[in-house]
Amino acid sequence: MKDILEELERRRGIARLGGGQARIDAQHQRGKLTARERIDLFLDEGSFEEFDMFVEHRSTDFGMDKSRIAGDGVVTGWGTVNGRTVFVFAKDFTVFGGSLSEAHAEKIIKVQDMALKNRAPIIGIYDAGGARIQEGVAALGGYAEVFQRNVLASGVIPQISVIMGPCAGGDVYSPAMTDFIFMVRDTSYMFVTGPDVVKTVTNETVTSEELGGASVHTTRSSIADGAYDNDVDTLLQVRRLIDFLPQSNTSPVPEIECYQSVTDADNSLDTLIPANANKPYDIKELIQKVADEGDFFEIQASFAKNIVCGFGRIEGSTVGFVANQPMVLAGVLDSDASRKAARFVRFCDCFNIPIVTFVDVPGFLPGTAQEYGGLIKHGAKLLFAYAEATVPKLTVITRKAFGGAYDVMASKHLRGDLNYAWPTAQIAVMGAKGAVEIIFRKDIADPEKIAAHTKMYEDRFLSPFVAAERGYVDEVIMPHSTRRRLARGLKMLKNKDLSNPWKKHDNIPL
Ligand code: HXC
Repeated sequence: MKDILEELERRRGIARLGGGQARIDAQHQRGKLTARERIDLFLDEGSFEEFDMFVEHRSTDFGMDKSRIAGDGVVTGWGTVNGRTVFVFAKDFTVFGGSLSEAHAEKIIKVQDMALKNRAPIIGIYDAGGARIQEGVAALGGYAEVFQRNVLASGVIPQISVIMGPCAGGDVYSPAMTDFIFMVRDTSYMFVTGPDVVKTVTNETVTSEELGGASVHTTRSSIADGAYDNDVDTLLQVRRLIDFLPQSNTSPVPEIECYQSVTDADNSLDTLIPANANKPYDIKELIQKVADEGDFFEIQASFAKNIVCGFGRIEGSTVGFVANQPMVLAGVLDSDASRKAARFVRFCDCFNIPIVTFVDVPGFLPGTAQEYGGLIKHGAKLLFAYAEATVPKLTVITRKAFGGAYDVMASKHLRGDLNYAWPTAQIAVMGAKGAVEIIFRKDIADPEKIAAHTKMYEDRFLSPFVAAERGYVDEVIMPHSTRRRLARGLKMLKNKDLSNPWKKHDNIPL
């Protein structure tokens, strides 16, 4: 019996070494952890239960029958994050560059199926060279099986991808279909085809970092939702995100103890809005003052900074915050901001996370660049996302809510549940200058008349009261009471029951 037990330990020891000590050392020299080290760090201590440690590939071409390594380049299983079950797979770059074979795909598929069946989040950690070149179509088939499961799980369980090394070819499309992608600065990159192929096809000379590094994907392409300095920080941040998320679309949002009173007034909010309506202020200050303990997990912080999206908690329960940011482009809605917020709103709606929207928006960004780039369709994405969302929607207009952007930003007309305005709110078709220049065009040469018209327009329309008179805002509230109002509102909306008409699925403008 002892021999049998020792044999198991011996085989486990070999499997744990993956591609061998030299390749592990090389991994460390590049500032990267190994697949197993990453999983250990990511999960609660001692909680990892591994599957398929001894799986090997079945390929015989190109001498592969003489080169088999237990685990076949991916470590899979499940464990817990702060006590809640999650499923994981981590590509092992030390084994055939983490490339995907048929057997490797079967291991991933097994945890995908288990995650979906057991309604728990799944996290994929990537550090890999794409399809196992020696396997050909068997590897391509394996990828498609993984992709299919990503799609079936979408909107049912949270799916998160963490890119911690190369991620090329087939390895980019599975992350692209998950809810969130995080990268590690300087050591990770994602692209469909690498620099060599780019050089051959387009004659462009580009480095891996320039083509698909974290800076590209967090600031330009918006493929990644965040980037951190090293493996450790990245994995700890993903743990933090998971704490905000429900296990599935049928699980309640997690609730944790709240240590900050929701009834205390925050008088500093009464002076957040500058006296001059054209002066910016930082909307994140409002989010941080409303969220429990100021804890805010921002999504896509470096992309389309004119809108801020992310998770926080109010009285211990997760909410999604969406807010125009007056500090960047005066908080205007453009194509990028609309796409970014639309995807976030849809994620919240999938997983029953209430949405708190702070509005200070001068309108949609005019210009040929925006119109040629499809602003109509991208803006419609955000409109569509808010209109279809059935989760509790709470909106606070802090200052400007002009034009179509007023409608889009979770207005009463899009089934907003509680729509509040601060006394500083200005709800109108457009700002005073633009409005007066159009409706009093004949007086344009007379500055005195224009000033009088402007004053009249401002007095009549640039306040929350015209909208309040019609019931389009439910109440004009004191800024200092915002957290209390939202907390009470969220409590009242706990049992909200609203569903859309039956359909196979909608046809959101893509
Ligand atoms: C088999 C692979 C491999 C692959 C890497 N390796 N990629 N083995 N199939 N796709 C092996 C290498 O042979 C090497 O083995 C080890 O992994 C480490 O690779 P290196 O090249 O030494 O490392 P590095 O210099 O860091 O470069 C990493 C890399 C590069 C950028 C990922 O290996 C690379 O470009 N690989 C190929 C990428 C690619 O074109 N994949 C196919 C994409 S097509 P040894 O034994 O020497 O350590 C695809 C189609 C799917 O994925 C489409 C579905 C939609």
